[in-house]
Amino acid sequence: MVLHLPIGLLAALGAVEVWSVLTRPAAETRREPVSPTLLVVLAAVGAAGAAASGLILSLEDQYGGSVLQLHQWLGIALAGLAVLALGLHLVHRAGRPKFRAPYRACVALALAVMIPAGHFGAKMTHGKGFLTEPLTRSRAARAGLLSADSAAGRPVGASAPEGPSEQPPTARLAFAALEARCFSCHGARKQKGGLRLDSIEHILAGGDNGPVVVATSPEQSEMYIRITLPAEDEYHMPPEGRTPLTDAEIDVIRRWIEQGAKDPA
Ligand code: HEC
Repeated sequence: MVLHLPIGLLAALGAVEVWSVLTRPAAETRREPVSPTLLVVLAAVGAAGAAASGLILSLEDQYGGSVLQLHQWLGIALAGLAVLALGLHLVHRAGRPKFRAPYRACVALALAVMIPAGHFGAKMTHGKGFLTEPLTRSRAARAGLLSADSAAGRPVGASAPEGPSEQPPTARLAFAALEARCFSCHGARKQKGGLRLDSIEHILAGGDNGPVVVATSPEQSEMYIRITLPAEDEYHMPPEGRTPLTDAEIDVIRRWIEQGAKDPA
């Protein structure tokens, strides 16, 4: 979200304060070296705006879950701290030197809150373990658990080696694509639309609106229809903002359904 710009402003404020502490001996007698007033005003207004728009966005419940809750409360706390910092700063400017220390404490606290807020925000939009995924991937690759393609981060099946014995079966490729792009919302932890995609039994059980796969017929399968809708369609899966499936992955899912939507075992 663009409104997260105040994060940068708060960081800048922290830098200004650290700077003025470091240069204090020289600057003591002079006027303050840098005036952070504009920064504080922008950071406070921006943080409050970000928190408000975050609340509105959360009503749409695209994301949901405890991670959103955490991010939301931390964001609100951060906005509160930014506004408080503005108040303290203005009083300090008005000629009350005693208010400088609480102001600094406020900025420091806001910076501290920013770290977990940012962490949960990233977790929310990129899915759990987005930072550690590349690590676990290469570990799995070393253990020989992944195909060469998915270990290299290439779209699954994009450059499948020649010879049928080398190529993982379609069902396994299809499940790998679902795992990468769908399990975060349709897995053990979350079942958006009442749908779980992390086992053949769950897939066949369907979602809130019934079956999502009609074996041998992709065109009648809600799951296939959704992944082939135009990207801007509100029913497109994965939803807007998430990394879409590649053409190769969509093709693998189509073939998997055509071949009877079998368990990859
Ligand atoms: C960011 C979370 C998210 C991701 C990732 C995601 N979905 Fe969904 N999905 C939803 C939500 C929310 C709904 C319910 C609203 C709707 O029907 O659009 C839904 C509904 C569905 C439904 C309809 C279920 C029913 O019975 O109504 C299907 C099918 C589906 N998703 C397939 C997929 C597939 C396939 C993927 C991976 C390519 C995927 N989704 C990835 C959030 C997600």
